[in-house]
Amino acid sequence: MKDGYCLGIESTADDFGVGIVSFEGEVLVNVNDTYTPEKGGIHPREAARHHARVAGKVLAEAFRKSGIKPKELSVIAFSQGPGLGPCLRTGATAARALASYLDLPLIGVNHCVAHIEIGKLINKAEDPVTLYVSGGNTIVAAFEARRYRVFGETLDIAAGNCIDVFAREAGLESDRGLPLGRIVEERAAKGENFIHLPYTVKGMDLSFSGLLTAAITLLKKGKYRIEDICFSFQETIFSMLTEVTERALAHTEKKEVLLTGGVGSNNRLKEMLRIMAEEHDATFHSVPKEYALDNGAMIAWVGVLSYKHGLTVPVEKSFVKLKWRLDEVEVPWVDEKDVD
Ligand code: ATP
Ligand code: FE2
Repeated sequence: MKDGYCLGIESTADDFGVGIVSFEGEVLVNVNDTYTPEKGGIHPREAARHHARVAGKVLAEAFRKSGIKPKELSVIAFSQGPGLGPCLRTGATAARALASYLDLPLIGVNHCVAHIEIGKLINKAEDPVTLYVSGGNTIVAAFEARRYRVFGETLDIAAGNCIDVFAREAGLESDRGLPLGRIVEERAAKGENFIHLPYTVKGMDLSFSGLLTAAITLLKKGKYRIEDICFSFQETIFSMLTEVTERALAHTEKKEVLLTGGVGSNNRLKEMLRIMAEEHDATFHSVPKEYALDNGAMIAWVGVLSYKHGLTVPVEKSFVKLKWRLDEVEVPWVDEKDVD
């Protein structure tokens, strides 16, 4: 296949990102513009309005920084799901317009597959068990029989969301523009006393809502130091995540663990997973923030992989899929023979 470039658009939630990646896997540019709500969590329609407003600017910046001209592109990819409807539709509209205008094939990319594939590319990992843990997702997945199988996931809220709601209740909202999880991490590092909190692993799945309620109740009692509550809260969440990842690793007998998503930048979580991986003679990989948070390059890279396998989608069938599960997606570029 001749050389080429894929432009990828990410817009599942609060980020509007554009990446351009070569067919060989070189990331030429990865530009992002994040919608920040004035207060509280994401409002999907406001986020979508933000994306529509910045789309032209982010695309222009991607072309300028990469030095790639629109006519040098070979394919356009966009995050087709899962995600928030209005946000997904805004990115899809931009991608369809570009593909039609430039007369290029279009690829609909699964956001969760993209997190795994960019993590593998950046780390040169081959066949990891992946823990993808962010504001909206908590998934333990690994490749088995043509797909990324979900070995464990949250039954209610995502771990990042759990941390964010707790942090807001604790009044930890920052004036320094740091993510809430990072502020909880700083407080937790100063914690000394462990307070018992609900630890809920059901089979291979996780539940965080009881733990969240219990942690908020502790806050309201006013009896404990915030540092100790943050410490206990983090230790409990991360132990649950590590347990499920460990069981997936033991079951699949894979030799790599990959940590990605916003919560994956937490040093304590990295430490726990690294120790666990070493105990299983597995290599631990974490993904740098630029590629662990939502980004356009991951969509462009899966655009390349998909394009090489003919997985294009006609514009009239490129509707977004709000609940598109990771394990519904065939990933023919992962070779069964290589991973056995
Ligand atoms: P997705 O669509 O993948 O769910 P998202 O935008 O909701 O994406 P990310 O941007 O990947 O999520 O991650 C944001 C989450 O990561 C927030 O919940 C934030 O508090 C958490 N986070 C960021 N830094 C840290 C940290 N150091 N420790 C723990 N959590 C963190
Ligand atoms: Fe994501």
